[in-house]
Amino acid sequence: MTVLRSAILAAADSPRIRRFVGRYGMRLGAARFVAGETLGEAVVTLRRLNEQGLRTNTTVLGEGVENREATGRVVEAYEEVLRLIAAEGLQTNVALKLTHLGVLIDEELAYGNLERLVAEAVGLGNFIRIDMEDSPLVDVTLRIYRRLRAAGHDNVGAVLQAYLYRSEDDLESLLPLRPNVRIVKGAYRESPEIAYPRKADVDAAYARLVERAIAEAEFTAVATHDERLIDHAIGLGAGPDRFELQMLYGVRPQLQLDLVRRGQRVLVATPYGPDWYPYLMRRLAERPANLMFFLKSAIRK
Ligand code: FDA
Repeated sequence: MTVLRSAILAAADSPRIRRFVGRYGMRLGAARFVAGETLGEAVVTLRRLNEQGLRTNTTVLGEGVENREATGRVVEAYEEVLRLIAAEGLQTNVALKLTHLGVLIDEELAYGNLERLVAEAVGLGNFIRIDMEDSPLVDVTLRIYRRLRAAGHDNVGAVLQAYLYRSEDDLESLLPLRPNVRIVKGAYRESPEIAYPRKADVDAAYARLVERAIAEAEFTAVATHDERLIDHAIGLGAGPDRFELQMLYGVRPQLQLDLVRRGQRVLVATPYGPDWYPYLMRRLAERPANLMFFLKSAIRK
């Protein structure tokens, strides 16, 4: 992870920066990455993307919830999302974070909340992916994923982060389950004791994970904007029933459309909601040019 990226993620914890960005961020650039603050706004964007031939997923932004009752409201929000997706006939599934469902309070609470949603989703023909958060949560996240699969829920997917040394072993241990797995580089601040600090090593690990997943997993989502890795994945020759490319809303939109025109299956991760601050900060950290754009907008105001 570059020094600048790490510095942006560290600065994101500052209450002053949080207050400033929280107040002006949506107007200053967050709207580029977030499909609005309400479900109604998100649906307009999801429909537009679907009409362009792009599949989508959506996320109610939020994480790190430490209040039991609040997790109940998150579950209700996702139930509304799942019902609306079905009612509107959208090609949209759901990606969510376990810390939004209460895993920091109690693993059983998070498991129960997620199982309720996965059961609701299967009845509506939908699918839920469990995003991967920072490294202290990897074990519990994979444990919950395995428990759901053991309980017979197949409409659920996992994520592995190429920057973690452990991820290749994690993938091997998941492969007997024939998982639906998304491979990402990793978006959190991690120490070199557990994560590759050099981009070249992360990219090499990414390519290895994708090769292995495409060979053995039930379905592989290659989630990156890195054209070299996208071409590498396409070159492996898997069909759209086994593999899709995934990118973030607002990041390289022209590339998304070009890939659709080239016959690729592409999903755009399209989050919404008022709690967009940590999500925005991770997007700014990924690309310093985004931070410059954000700062210039702030100065112009
Ligand atoms: P890399 O950072 O090397 O970027 C390659 C190129 O893409 C850059 O040169 C630039 O042109 C462009 N680019 C990348 N990020 C950009 C940005 N923010 N703005 C503008 N251009 C950008 N992480 C995680 O830890 N857990 C998770 O569950 C997920 N889930 C997830 C889902 C999906 C669909 C995607 C696409 C990504 C994630 N991530 C994630 C984030 C992921 O770990 C990673 O931080 C970002 O994808 C950025 O890395 P790239 O693979 O794009 O490569």
